[in-house]
Amino acid sequence: MSVEMINSESLRRAMVDQLVADHADKGLTLRPEVEVAMRTVPRELFTPGLPPEEAYENRAIITKRRGEENISSVSAPFLIAEMLGQAADALGGLKGRHVLEVGSGGYNASLLRELVGAVGSVTTVDIDPDVTDRAVECLKAAGYDDVKVVCADAEHPVDSGRRYDLIIVTAGAWDIPPAWREQLTDDGVLVVPLRTFGMTRSWALRRAGGGLVSVSERQCGFVPVQGDGAYDVQYVDVADGVHLRLDEGQRLDSPGLDGLLETPRQEAWAGLSLPPPTVLADLDLWLASRTADVGQQFVVLTAQDAAISSGVVAPSWRFGTPAVLHEGTLAYRSELRWTGDAFDLGAYAHGPATSAAAEAAQRMVEHMRAWVNAGCPAPVLHVLPAQTPDGDLPAGTAVDKRHSRLVLAFTTEGRES
Ligand SMILES: C[S@@+](CC[C@H](N)C(=O)[O-])C[C@H]1O[C@@H](n2cnc3c(N)ncnc32)[C@H](O)[C@@H]1O
Repeated sequence: MSVEMINSESLRRAMVDQLVADHADKGLTLRPEVEVAMRTVPRELFTPGLPPEEAYENRAIITKRRGEENISSVSAPFLIAEMLGQAADALGGLKGRHVLEVGSGGYNASLLRELVGAVGSVTTVDIDPDVTDRAVECLKAAGYDDVKVVCADAEHPVDSGRRYDLIIVTAGAWDIPPAWREQLTDDGVLVVPLRTFGMTRSWALRRAGGGLVSVSERQCGFVPVQGDGAYDVQYVDVADGVHLRLDEGQRLDSPGLDGLLETPRQEAWAGLSLPPPTVLADLDLWLASRTADVGQQFVVLTAQDAAISSGVVAPSWRFGTPAVLHEGTLAYRSELRWTGDAFDLGAYAHGPATSAAAEAAQRMVEHMRAWVNAGCPAPVLHVLPAQTPDGDLPAGTAVDKRHSRLVLAFTTEGRES
Protein backbone atom coordinates (compact mmCIF):
# COMPACT_ATOMS: atom_id res chain seq x y z
CA MET A 1 0.00 0.00 0.00
CA SER A 2 1.43 3.40 -1.01
CA VAL A 3 1.98 6.30 1.38
CA GLU A 4 -0.81 8.24 -0.45
CA MET A 5 -3.29 5.39 0.10
CA ILE A 6 -2.46 5.17 3.79
CA ASN A 7 -2.85 8.95 4.06
CA SER A 8 -6.24 8.85 2.28
CA GLU A 9 -7.46 6.01 4.46
CA SER A 10 -6.59 7.79 7.67
CA LEU A 11 -8.20 11.02 6.38
CA ARG A 12 -11.33 9.05 5.46
CA ARG A 13 -11.42 7.41 8.89
CA ALA A 14 -11.12 10.81 10.58
CA MET A 15 -13.85 12.28 8.36
CA VAL A 16 -16.31 9.47 9.17
CA ASP A 17 -15.44 9.53 12.89
CA GLN A 18 -16.33 13.22 12.82
CA LEU A 19 -19.60 12.52 10.95
CA VAL A 20 -20.60 10.00 13.63
CA ALA A 21 -19.88 12.55 16.37
CA ASP A 22 -21.67 15.38 14.52
CA HIS A 23 -24.75 13.22 13.97
CA ALA A 24 -24.84 12.44 17.71
CA ASP A 25 -24.55 16.18 18.52
CA LYS A 26 -27.63 16.78 16.37
CA GLY A 27 -29.53 13.96 18.08
CA LEU A 28 -29.23 11.75 14.96
CA THR A 29 -27.61 8.35 14.43
CA LEU A 30 -25.43 7.64 11.41
CA ARG A 31 -26.85 4.35 10.15
CA PRO A 32 -24.23 1.57 10.33
CA GLU A 33 -24.48 0.67 6.63
CA VAL A 34 -24.09 4.34 5.61
CA GLU A 35 -21.07 4.57 7.90
CA VAL A 36 -19.54 1.45 6.30
CA ALA A 37 -20.13 2.82 2.78
CA MET A 38 -18.52 6.13 3.69
CA ARG A 39 -15.53 4.31 5.18
CA THR A 40 -15.22 2.35 1.90
CA VAL A 41 -15.61 4.81 -1.02
CA PRO A 42 -12.43 6.79 -1.76
CA ARG A 43 -13.75 10.38 -1.97
CA GLU A 44 -10.41 11.65 -3.35
CA LEU A 45 -11.10 9.77 -6.62
CA PHE A 46 -14.10 12.06 -7.21
CA THR A 47 -12.20 15.29 -6.58
CA PRO A 48 -9.33 14.93 -9.08
CA GLY A 49 -6.63 17.57 -8.80
CA LEU A 50 -7.30 18.24 -5.12
CA PRO A 51 -4.91 17.10 -2.39
CA PRO A 52 -6.51 14.36 -0.22
CA GLU A 53 -6.57 16.73 2.78
CA GLU A 54 -9.06 18.93 0.89
CA ALA A 55 -11.04 16.02 -0.57
CA TYR A 56 -11.79 14.86 2.98
CA GLU A 57 -12.85 18.23 4.38
CA ASN A 58 -16.47 18.13 5.50
CA ARG A 59 -17.69 20.60 2.86
CA ALA A 60 -18.95 20.75 -0.71
CA ILE A 61 -16.28 21.08 -3.40
CA ILE A 62 -17.35 23.35 -6.22
CA THR A 63 -16.57 21.78 -9.58
CA LYS A 64 -18.30 24.18 -11.98
CA ARG A 65 -19.38 27.83 -12.00
CA ARG A 66 -21.43 29.92 -14.42
CA GLY A 67 -20.47 33.54 -13.81
CA GLU A 68 -20.94 34.13 -10.07
CA GLU A 69 -23.16 31.09 -9.63
CA ASN A 70 -22.03 27.63 -8.50
CA ILE A 71 -23.74 25.08 -10.73
CA SER A 72 -22.04 21.81 -9.84
CA SER A 73 -20.20 20.38 -6.87
CA VAL A 74 -19.23 17.25 -5.04
CA SER A 75 -21.72 17.47 -2.18
CA ALA A 76 -20.64 17.88 1.44
CA PRO A 77 -20.11 14.54 3.26
CA PHE A 78 -22.36 15.48 6.21
CA LEU A 79 -25.25 16.28 3.90
CA ILE A 80 -24.77 13.15 1.82
CA ALA A 81 -24.72 11.10 5.04
CA GLU A 82 -27.88 12.74 6.34
CA MET A 83 -29.78 12.29 3.06
CA LEU A 84 -28.71 8.66 2.66
CA GLY A 85 -29.86 8.17 6.26
CA GLN A 86 -33.25 9.73 5.43
CA ALA A 87 -33.59 7.42 2.43
CA ALA A 88 -32.57 4.29 4.32
CA ASP A 89 -34.80 5.13 7.30
CA ALA A 90 -37.82 5.74 5.05
CA LEU A 91 -37.29 2.54 3.04
CA GLY A 92 -36.15 0.37 5.96
CA GLY A 93 -32.74 -0.15 4.32
CA LEU A 94 -31.38 0.21 0.80
CA LYS A 95 -30.15 -3.32 0.04
CA GLY A 96 -31.58 -4.59 -3.25
CA ARG A 97 -33.18 -1.22 -4.09
CA HIS A 98 -33.24 0.40 -7.50
CA VAL A 99 -32.15 4.01 -7.25
CA LEU A 100 -32.23 7.07 -9.48
CA GLU A 101 -29.87 9.85 -8.43
CA VAL A 102 -30.57 13.30 -9.91
CA GLY A 103 -27.33 15.29 -10.12
CA SER A 104 -24.17 13.33 -10.80
CA GLY A 105 -20.56 13.54 -9.77
CA GLY A 106 -19.98 9.92 -8.89
CA TYR A 107 -19.29 10.09 -5.15
CA ASN A 108 -22.87 9.75 -3.91
CA ALA A 109 -23.63 7.23 -6.69
CA SER A 110 -20.73 5.06 -5.46
CA LEU A 111 -22.01 5.21 -1.89
CA LEU A 112 -25.45 4.21 -3.18
CA ARG A 113 -23.84 1.38 -5.18
CA GLU A 114 -22.28 0.08 -1.96
CA LEU A 115 -25.61 0.41 -0.14
CA VAL A 116 -27.86 -1.31 -2.70
CA GLY A 117 -25.53 -4.32 -3.10
CA ALA A 118 -25.27 -6.78 -5.97
CA VAL A 119 -29.00 -7.13 -6.73
CA GLY A 120 -29.81 -3.42 -6.57
CA SER A 121 -29.00 -0.83 -9.22
CA VAL A 122 -28.00 2.82 -9.43
CA THR A 123 -28.72 5.20 -12.30
CA THR A 124 -27.42 8.74 -12.07
CA VAL A 125 -28.61 11.56 -14.32
CA ASP A 126 -27.14 15.00 -14.88
CA ILE A 127 -28.14 17.76 -17.28
CA ASP A 128 -24.54 18.78 -17.92
CA PRO A 129 -22.40 16.63 -20.26
CA ASP A 130 -19.19 17.90 -18.60
CA VAL A 131 -20.49 16.49 -15.32
CA THR A 132 -21.58 13.13 -16.76
CA ASP A 133 -18.28 12.73 -18.67
CA ARG A 134 -16.34 13.36 -15.49
CA ALA A 135 -18.63 11.08 -13.47
CA VAL A 136 -18.09 8.21 -15.93
CA GLU A 137 -14.30 8.56 -15.63
CA CYS A 138 -14.30 8.87 -11.84
CA LEU A 139 -16.71 5.94 -11.37
CA LYS A 140 -14.50 3.80 -13.58
CA ALA A 141 -11.35 4.78 -11.69
CA ALA A 142 -13.06 3.89 -8.39
CA GLY A 143 -14.36 0.55 -9.71
CA TYR A 144 -18.06 1.50 -9.79
CA ASP A 145 -18.52 1.37 -13.56
CA ASP A 146 -21.80 -0.56 -13.18
CA VAL A 147 -23.51 2.71 -12.23
CA LYS A 148 -25.57 3.80 -15.24
CA VAL A 149 -24.81 7.43 -16.14
CA VAL A 150 -27.36 9.39 -18.21
CA CYS A 151 -27.10 12.94 -19.56
CA ALA A 152 -30.62 14.49 -19.54
CA ASP A 153 -32.88 17.03 -17.85
CA ALA A 154 -34.34 15.08 -14.93
CA GLU A 155 -37.45 17.27 -14.97
CA HIS A 156 -38.69 14.60 -17.42
CA PRO A 157 -38.77 10.80 -17.15
CA VAL A 158 -35.25 9.41 -17.49
CA ASP A 159 -35.94 5.91 -18.72
CA SER A 160 -39.51 5.77 -20.05
CA GLY A 161 -41.73 3.44 -18.01
CA ARG A 162 -39.03 2.52 -15.47
CA ARG A 163 -39.80 3.00 -11.77
CA TYR A 164 -37.39 3.33 -8.86
CA ASP A 165 -37.58 2.48 -5.15
CA LEU A 166 -35.63 5.64 -4.39
CA ILE A 167 -35.19 8.89 -6.26
CA ILE A 168 -32.60 11.02 -4.52
CA VAL A 169 -32.22 14.54 -5.85
CA THR A 170 -28.90 16.29 -5.22
CA ALA A 171 -29.72 19.73 -6.66
CA GLY A 172 -31.93 22.36 -5.05
CA ALA A 173 -35.47 22.16 -6.43
CA TRP A 174 -38.26 24.71 -6.25
CA ASP A 175 -41.02 22.31 -7.24
CA ILE A 176 -41.70 18.58 -7.66
CA PRO A 177 -42.21 17.78 -11.36
CA PRO A 178 -44.79 15.04 -12.04
CA ALA A 179 -42.02 12.77 -13.42
CA TRP A 180 -40.46 12.34 -9.98
CA ARG A 181 -43.68 10.99 -8.49
CA GLU A 182 -44.56 8.92 -11.54
CA GLN A 183 -41.14 7.20 -11.58
CA LEU A 184 -41.52 6.04 -7.94
CA THR A 185 -42.62 2.49 -7.16
CA ASP A 186 -45.82 2.27 -5.09
CA ASP A 187 -43.88 2.25 -1.81
CA GLY A 188 -40.96 4.25 -3.19
CA VAL A 189 -39.33 7.24 -1.55
CA LEU A 190 -38.30 10.60 -3.00
CA VAL A 191 -35.57 12.48 -1.12
CA VAL A 192 -35.38 16.02 -2.42
CA PRO A 193 -33.92 19.35 -1.32
CA LEU A 194 -36.97 21.56 -1.88
CA ARG A 195 -37.43 25.26 -1.32
CA THR A 196 -40.52 26.45 0.55
CA PHE A 197 -40.82 30.05 1.76
CA GLY A 198 -37.29 30.62 0.43
CA MET A 199 -35.78 27.94 2.72
CA THR A 200 -34.44 24.61 1.50
CA ARG A 201 -34.97 21.37 3.39
CA SER A 202 -34.18 17.84 2.30
CA TRP A 203 -37.57 16.10 2.53
CA ALA A 204 -38.04 12.33 2.45
CA LEU A 205 -41.46 11.85 0.82
CA ARG A 206 -43.71 8.83 0.33
CA ARG A 207 -46.77 8.39 -1.82
CA ALA A 208 -50.04 9.34 -0.11
CA GLY A 209 -53.25 9.24 -2.17
CA GLY A 210 -52.56 11.14 -5.39
CA GLY A 211 -49.64 13.03 -3.84
CA LEU A 212 -46.73 12.67 -1.46
CA VAL A 213 -46.21 13.25 2.26
CA SER A 214 -42.97 13.76 4.16
CA VAL A 215 -41.58 11.42 6.80
CA SER A 216 -38.46 13.45 7.68
CA GLU A 217 -36.63 16.63 6.83
CA ARG A 218 -33.14 18.11 7.22
CA GLN A 219 -31.79 21.59 6.71
CA CYS A 220 -29.59 21.81 3.62
CA GLY A 221 -28.28 23.91 0.75
CA PHE A 222 -27.58 22.87 -2.85
CA VAL A 223 -26.66 24.26 -6.25
CA PRO A 224 -29.94 24.99 -8.08
CA VAL A 225 -31.84 22.77 -10.46
CA GLN A 226 -31.27 23.85 -14.07
CA GLY A 227 -33.29 23.19 -17.23
CA ASP A 228 -37.08 23.18 -17.34
CA GLY A 229 -37.32 23.19 -13.52
CA ALA A 230 -35.04 26.24 -13.11
CA TYR A 231 -36.31 29.08 -10.93
CA ASP A 232 -35.52 32.66 -10.20
CA VAL A 233 -34.13 34.10 -6.96
CA GLN A 234 -33.80 37.85 -6.47
CA TYR A 235 -31.96 39.86 -3.84
CA VAL A 236 -33.30 43.26 -2.75
CA ASP A 237 -30.92 45.66 -0.95
CA VAL A 238 -31.93 46.73 2.56
CA ALA A 239 -28.56 48.22 3.54
CA ASP A 240 -24.95 47.81 2.48
CA GLY A 241 -24.34 44.03 2.62
CA VAL A 242 -27.89 43.18 3.80
CA HIS A 243 -30.46 41.72 1.44
CA LEU A 244 -33.91 40.21 1.34
CA ARG A 245 -33.93 37.05 -0.75
CA LEU A 246 -37.11 36.74 -2.79
CA ASP A 247 -38.32 33.43 -4.07
CA GLU A 248 -39.59 32.71 -7.58
CA GLY A 249 -42.71 34.82 -8.17
CA GLN A 250 -42.41 36.72 -4.87
CA ARG A 251 -42.89 40.50 -5.00
CA LEU A 252 -42.30 42.90 -2.10
CA ASP A 253 -45.53 44.22 -0.57
CA SER A 254 -43.69 47.04 1.24
CA PRO A 255 -41.90 49.74 -0.66
CA GLY A 256 -39.40 51.97 1.15
CA LEU A 257 -36.74 49.71 2.59
CA ASP A 258 -34.13 52.46 2.30
CA GLY A 259 -32.83 53.53 5.68
CA LEU A 260 -35.04 51.00 7.51
CA LEU A 261 -32.10 49.42 9.34
CA GLU A 262 -30.94 52.89 10.42
CA THR A 263 -34.07 53.37 12.52
CA PRO A 264 -33.61 52.38 16.20
CA ARG A 265 -33.51 48.60 16.67
CA GLN A 266 -36.31 47.28 18.86
CA GLU A 267 -35.94 43.88 20.50
CA ALA A 268 -38.13 41.33 22.23
CA TRP A 269 -37.22 38.08 24.02
CA ALA A 270 -39.41 35.05 24.49
CA GLY A 271 -38.22 34.28 28.03
CA LEU A 272 -37.76 30.59 27.17
CA SER A 273 -35.26 27.89 28.10
CA LEU A 274 -34.74 25.87 24.96
CA PRO A 275 -34.70 22.11 25.42
CA PRO A 276 -31.72 20.41 23.70
CA PRO A 277 -31.42 19.54 20.86
CA THR A 278 -33.92 22.08 19.49
CA VAL A 279 -34.11 22.09 15.69
CA LEU A 280 -34.31 25.79 14.94
CA ALA A 281 -34.69 25.08 11.22
CA ASP A 282 -38.15 23.74 12.18
CA LEU A 283 -38.91 26.98 14.04
CA ASP A 284 -37.99 28.97 10.91
CA LEU A 285 -40.58 27.07 8.85
CA TRP A 286 -43.12 27.57 11.65
CA LEU A 287 -42.47 31.33 11.58
CA ALA A 288 -42.91 31.32 7.79
CA SER A 289 -46.22 29.47 7.91
CA ARG A 290 -47.63 31.46 10.84
CA THR A 291 -46.65 34.71 9.09
CA ALA A 292 -48.39 33.62 5.87
CA ASP A 293 -51.45 32.48 7.85
CA VAL A 294 -52.00 35.99 9.23
CA GLY A 295 -51.52 37.58 5.80
CA GLN A 296 -48.12 39.17 6.45
CA GLN A 297 -45.12 38.90 4.15
CA PHE A 298 -42.42 36.38 5.02
CA VAL A 299 -38.97 36.99 3.53
CA VAL A 300 -35.48 35.62 4.07
CA LEU A 301 -32.76 38.02 5.18
CA THR A 302 -29.11 37.47 4.21
CA ALA A 303 -26.12 39.47 5.40
CA GLN A 304 -22.45 39.78 4.64
CA ASP A 305 -19.92 39.42 7.47
CA ALA A 306 -18.99 43.11 7.29
CA ALA A 307 -22.61 44.20 7.85
CA ILE A 308 -22.82 41.95 10.92
CA SER A 309 -19.47 42.95 12.42
CA SER A 310 -20.27 46.65 11.93
CA GLY A 311 -23.52 46.13 13.88
CA VAL A 312 -25.87 47.09 11.04
CA VAL A 313 -27.73 43.80 11.44
CA ALA A 314 -27.62 40.88 13.92
CA PRO A 315 -29.39 37.93 12.21
CA SER A 316 -29.76 34.38 13.52
CA TRP A 317 -27.95 33.02 10.43
CA ARG A 318 -26.27 35.15 7.83
CA PHE A 319 -27.23 32.89 4.92
CA GLY A 320 -30.96 32.84 5.66
CA THR A 321 -32.75 34.41 8.61
CA PRO A 322 -36.56 34.38 8.82
CA ALA A 323 -37.96 37.89 8.53
CA VAL A 324 -41.35 39.57 8.28
CA LEU A 325 -42.32 42.75 6.44
CA HIS A 326 -45.52 44.33 7.69
CA GLU A 327 -46.84 47.89 7.38
CA GLY A 328 -43.37 49.41 6.95
CA THR A 329 -41.66 47.36 9.68
CA LEU A 330 -39.02 44.66 9.24
CA ALA A 331 -38.69 42.04 12.01
CA TYR A 332 -36.18 39.17 11.99
CA ARG A 333 -35.05 36.36 14.25
CA SER A 334 -32.03 37.30 16.36
CA GLU A 335 -29.21 35.05 17.45
CA LEU A 336 -29.92 32.95 20.54
CA ARG A 337 -29.27 34.68 23.85
CA TRP A 338 -27.48 32.80 26.66
CA THR A 339 -29.24 33.63 29.91
CA GLY A 340 -26.74 31.94 32.23
CA ASP A 341 -28.29 28.49 32.23
CA ALA A 342 -30.27 28.24 28.96
CA PHE A 343 -30.77 29.73 25.52
CA ASP A 344 -33.60 32.16 24.81
CA LEU A 345 -35.14 33.13 21.48
CA GLY A 346 -35.58 36.70 20.39
CA ALA A 347 -36.41 39.07 17.55
CA TYR A 348 -35.23 42.47 16.37
CA ALA A 349 -37.34 44.94 14.42
CA HIS A 350 -37.02 48.29 12.71
CA GLY A 351 -39.53 50.79 11.41
CA PRO A 352 -40.19 54.50 11.09
CA ALA A 353 -42.46 54.33 14.16
CA THR A 354 -40.76 52.92 17.27
CA SER A 355 -43.97 51.51 18.73
CA ALA A 356 -44.86 49.67 15.48
CA ALA A 357 -41.35 48.17 15.35
CA ALA A 358 -41.55 47.09 18.99
CA GLU A 359 -44.89 45.41 18.25
CA ALA A 360 -43.41 43.65 15.21
CA ALA A 361 -40.60 42.19 17.38
CA GLN A 362 -43.20 41.14 19.97
CA ARG A 363 -45.36 39.43 17.33
CA MET A 364 -42.45 37.35 16.12
CA VAL A 365 -41.56 36.35 19.67
CA GLU A 366 -45.16 35.30 20.30
CA HIS A 367 -44.93 32.90 17.34
CA MET A 368 -41.72 31.52 18.87
CA ARG A 369 -43.39 31.00 22.25
CA ALA A 370 -46.31 29.29 20.55
CA TRP A 371 -43.92 26.89 18.79
CA VAL A 372 -42.09 25.97 22.02
CA ASN A 373 -45.39 25.67 23.94
CA ALA A 374 -46.69 23.34 21.21
CA GLY A 375 -43.69 21.03 21.89
CA CYS A 376 -41.33 22.33 19.13
CA PRO A 377 -43.32 20.52 16.40
CA ALA A 378 -41.58 19.34 13.24
CA PRO A 379 -42.84 20.30 9.78
CA VAL A 380 -44.73 17.85 7.60
CA LEU A 381 -44.94 18.56 3.89
CA HIS A 382 -47.84 17.43 1.70
CA VAL A 383 -47.29 17.59 -2.06
CA LEU A 384 -50.46 17.54 -4.17
CA PRO A 385 -51.08 18.02 -7.88
CA ALA A 386 -51.52 21.65 -8.97
CA GLN A 387 -55.17 21.11 -9.88
CA THR A 388 -56.16 19.97 -6.35
CA PRO A 389 -59.16 22.10 -5.20
CA ASP A 390 -58.85 24.05 -1.94
CA GLY A 391 -61.44 21.83 -0.29
CA ASP A 392 -59.28 18.73 -0.84
CA LEU A 393 -56.14 20.19 0.76
CA PRO A 394 -55.10 18.88 4.18
CA ALA A 395 -54.96 21.37 7.08
CA GLY A 396 -51.90 23.61 6.96
CA THR A 397 -50.38 26.50 5.05
CA ALA A 398 -50.66 26.17 1.27
CA VAL A 399 -47.88 27.23 -1.10
CA ASP A 400 -48.62 27.07 -4.81
CA LYS A 401 -45.91 26.07 -7.28
CA ARG A 402 -45.96 25.34 -11.00
CA HIS A 403 -46.74 21.61 -10.81
CA SER A 404 -47.84 21.21 -7.22
CA ARG A 405 -49.71 22.61 -4.30
CA LEU A 406 -47.59 22.22 -1.18
CA VAL A 407 -49.13 22.23 2.27
CA LEU A 408 -46.93 22.76 5.30
CA ALA A 409 -48.28 21.37 8.57
CA PHE A 410 -46.64 20.67 11.95
CA THR A 411 -46.65 17.69 14.28
CA THR A 412 -45.01 16.39 17.41
CA GLU A 413 -46.13 12.86 16.57
CA GLY A 414 -43.59 10.27 15.46
CA ARG A 415 -40.75 12.79 15.71
CA GLU A 416 -37.68 10.88 14.76
CA SER A 417 -34.58 11.29 16.79
C1 LIG B 1 -24.50 19.10 -6.11
S1 LIG B 1 -24.25 18.53 -7.73
C2 LIG B 1 -24.40 16.77 -7.59
C3 LIG B 1 -23.48 16.14 -6.60
C4 LIG B 1 -23.31 14.67 -6.74
N1 LIG B 1 -24.57 13.94 -6.54
C5 LIG B 1 -22.25 14.10 -5.83
O1 LIG B 1 -22.14 12.88 -5.82
O2 LIG B 1 -21.53 14.84 -5.15
C6 LIG B 1 -25.77 18.95 -8.53
C7 LIG B 1 -25.84 18.56 -9.96
O3 LIG B 1 -27.18 18.65 -10.39
C8 LIG B 1 -27.16 18.84 -11.77
N2 LIG B 1 -28.47 19.28 -12.25
C9 LIG B 1 -29.06 20.50 -12.10
N3 LIG B 1 -30.26 20.53 -12.68
C10 LIG B 1 -30.47 19.30 -13.22
C11 LIG B 1 -31.53 18.72 -13.97
N4 LIG B 1 -32.64 19.41 -14.29
N5 LIG B 1 -31.41 17.42 -14.37
C12 LIG B 1 -30.29 16.72 -14.07
N6 LIG B 1 -29.26 17.24 -13.37
C13 LIG B 1 -29.34 18.50 -12.94
C14 LIG B 1 -26.05 19.88 -11.96
O4 LIG B 1 -25.54 19.86 -13.29
C15 LIG B 1 -25.03 19.43 -10.92
O5 LIG B 1 -23.99 18.70 -11.48
